[in-house]
Amino acid sequence: MQERKEKLPENSENHIRLKPAIYNPRFYYLRKLRQAVEWAVDKYIKPQSEKGKIRLIDLGCGTKPYISLFQKHNIEYLGADIDWNPYADIYIKNQRVESDDAQFDALVSTQVLEHVDDYQGYLKEAHRLLKENGILLLTTHGYWMYHPDPTDFWRWTSSGLKKIVSEQGFEIVDFQGILGRASMGMQLVQDGILFKIPKFLRPLWALWMQPQIWFFDKLSSQKARNEDACTYIVVARKKHIK
Ligand SMILES: C[S@@+](CC[C@H](N)C(=O)[O-])C[C@H]1O[C@@H](n2cnc3c(N)ncnc32)[C@H](O)[C@@H]1O
Repeated sequence: MQERKEKLPENSENHIRLKPAIYNPRFYYLRKLRQAVEWAVDKYIKPQSEKGKIRLIDLGCGTKPYISLFQKHNIEYLGADIDWNPYADIYIKNQRVESDDAQFDALVSTQVLEHVDDYQGYLKEAHRLLKENGILLLTTHGYWMYHPDPTDFWRWTSSGLKKIVSEQGFEIVDFQGILGRASMGMQLVQDGILFKIPKFLRPLWALWMQPQIWFFDKLSSQKARNEDACTYIVVARKKHIK
């Protein structure tokens, strides 16, 4: 197990996630992802927090890039991850967090599901940890390049993702796609070339490609994006148990 680190990374990796520079090859995507998480927090989690303090767990927290979006709303935040992550507050062992059932009002999972071998077990654990009617806010990839962290197993279609989340006892209350098909195609073209060119040219390549990715995304309708996208955000509620 990694030695636990009290502080988040000094290099401000999280700042890049929240506010990427225009020459970052993820500029447009990361901005859209942050806006989607912010939108879901404001619409589905903030109203609960206005009634009193609530508890939220980030399952597969990484470097906790969105922690500030939760903490500004009187939300008690706990980051959970597998034992290689020194920034976790609590560790996941054999797919289980050391916590009693139904301890959290909300559970966040950003860009984790595609990395989890047993994704059904992961969703079952999310269900166990949430209180009844608790909110699951999950993002994961439709199309994206291979990116092990430490592994990379899955990509989802919109229907497939809704199916696996619903099958584990959740009612889907909102579902949105981020970056439509043409825009995502441009992102893949960018990334296909990005890692073949010298490092010093990469920001210039990104500066050329990012406006095109933005432009092609504007040509998609949200309806089309909800069916076919780079990333999906799912908001679901733990179903009432009879
Ligand atoms: C791409 S990172 C995303 C981290 C963070 N949620 C974010 O949005 O930046 C994937 C994370 O999934 C975690 N992970 C991988 N397998 C997991 C598992 N079986 N259960 C929980 N987390 C897992 C990794 O440790 C890593 O922190």
